[in-house]
Formats: sequence, C-alpha cells, structure tokens
Amino acid sequence: MPLAPEPAPTVKQLLAFYLEAGVDCALADEPVDRLAEPDSATIAAPREIAAQRLVRETPAAAPSVSRSETAPAPEAAIASAREAARTAPSLEALRALLENFDGCALKHTATRLVFADGNPQARIMFVGEAPGRDEDIEGLPFVGRSGKLLDRMMSAIGLDRSKAYIANVIPWRPPGNRTPTPQETQICLPFIQRQIELVNPDVLVTLGNPSTQTLLSTREGIMKTRGKWFDYDTGTRTIRALATFHPAYLLRSPSYKRMSWLDLRAIAKQLEKVSSS
Ligand code: URA
Repeated sequence: MPLAPEPAPTVKQLLAFYLEAGVDCALADEPVDRLAEPDSATIAAPREIAAQRLVRETPAAAPSVSRSETAPAPEAAIASAREAARTAPSLEALRALLENFDGCALKHTATRLVFADGNPQARIMFVGEAPGRDEDIEGLPFVGRSGKLLDRMMSAIGLDRSKAYIANVIPWRPPGNRTPTPQETQICLPFIQRQIELVNPDVLVTLGNPSTQTLLSTREGIMKTRGKWFDYDTGTRTIRALATFHPAYLLRSPSYKRMSWLDLRAIAKQLEKVSSS
C-alpha cells in the first residue's frame, strides 16, 4: 500500500522550526531570493548609497570620503569610526556618536544600541562580545541568562552593577546571534577602545575569546589566555587586564566554573591592591 504523503506543515510549525534553528528576527518585510542571478547594477547601488550615507551622517571631524574614492566600504567605515571615536570627549558624546554612526550594518538589523550598563566611575570594567536577544530588547548589556550569571560572578567578589561598568565590543545585536564578521569587529573596535579610555578603570576583564582576542591583541584561545594578566594600553595609560571565560560558556560547560572562580579571586586581589596603593 503506498504511503500517505506527509501533511504540509502549518505556519505555526514552520515558525517553530525557524525559531529552533535560531532564526528569530525578520530583516525585511519582503523575502529576498539570495540564489537569484546577481545583477551588477543592483549590487553596486546599495554600496554606493551606504558610502554616501556614511559620509553624510558622520561628524564633521570625520575624514570625507567621496563616492568616487576606491576604498571598499568597510575600510571607509573603519577609518570613519576611528576618527569619530577619537573625537568623543565624554561617554555621552560617544553614545551619541554611535547612535548617529551609519558605518556598521548591524545597526540596521538590531532593535537598538546597547551601549553600556553600570557605573562609569567604577574601578572595574567587563567587556563581552555582542548583545543577544534580551539585550537588544532592553538596550542594556548582559541582562539575559548569561547576564544573570555575570551578576552572580560579580557578587561573589562583592561587586554589583553600581560598582562595575559593563559593555561589549560590538554594541548592536548580530541577527540571530550570529558571530560578528571581522569587518564588523574592526568597525566597532575604535568605539569600545575609546569607551575603555573614557571609563579609565583600574582593572579590565575581557569575557570570552572574541573580546579577549580583539582587545588584548592575542591569537591564543581562551583556554590559554584565561587567568592571565595583560597590559592594556589606552594610549594615555596602561591598565591591568584579565581574560576569563564568558558566562554563556560557563552555562554550557559548568565544570569550568572552578577555573572562573580562580579568575574572580585574582580580580578581587588586584582590586584590593589598587585601592590600597
Ligand atoms: N553576551 C555578550 O557577550 N554580551 C551581552 O551583552 C550578552 C551576552
């Protein structure tokens, strides 16, 4: 007897399937056929428009980039980000610059900018990779499950958000929580570097591999870098920086919490040292 054909999935089942696969946000109202034949005219146009927009909306101090210049868009965006971030005199100005910066495409898919949380006068600053879904909704870093663990980690050494400053290398959520591209990271890097310089903490903690590799200029993986002290040079001062596991990683691999505790103790010791000196 021939097998009865499977009934077509309902819309609800299809949505559940996409959600399960990590597709949890729509990027446009109309579907895009990515497999359609490329048309050079339609490919070139958005790039040129993006270059024009980047120039139009970046601060006057940013280097001007004309349409005819040959630099690819990411390079222009990186140069513009460097110049813009350098000129920000305060955290408020830096936040405003980011709100108006159009050089990173992630801004257009994210709900909002996730700039920072905590106390800008804090002696310690934690930096993660990029906001996730909960952070994108609330506009604050580390408010989801991994944020709750970060709060517990801080509380284990007597810290909370009134005594620490928290930010990410990337201030906009990558769609579906995908890994940021190297270009996106390079475009956002000058902003987090300036943020660190303006907060000027005594201790910088990089959470996880991407933040550690990006900020501490190392190619080693987190298994080698965690628990190690680095010197982070802001250009005006050297800050002691420690790499440790990302709380999301600890949620997936709780056996590493033991090592994370060693790192937290080292952080507490360093904070004591700087406050008594
Ligand atoms: N993971 C991060 O790296 N940052 C957040 O803000 C949340 C999760």
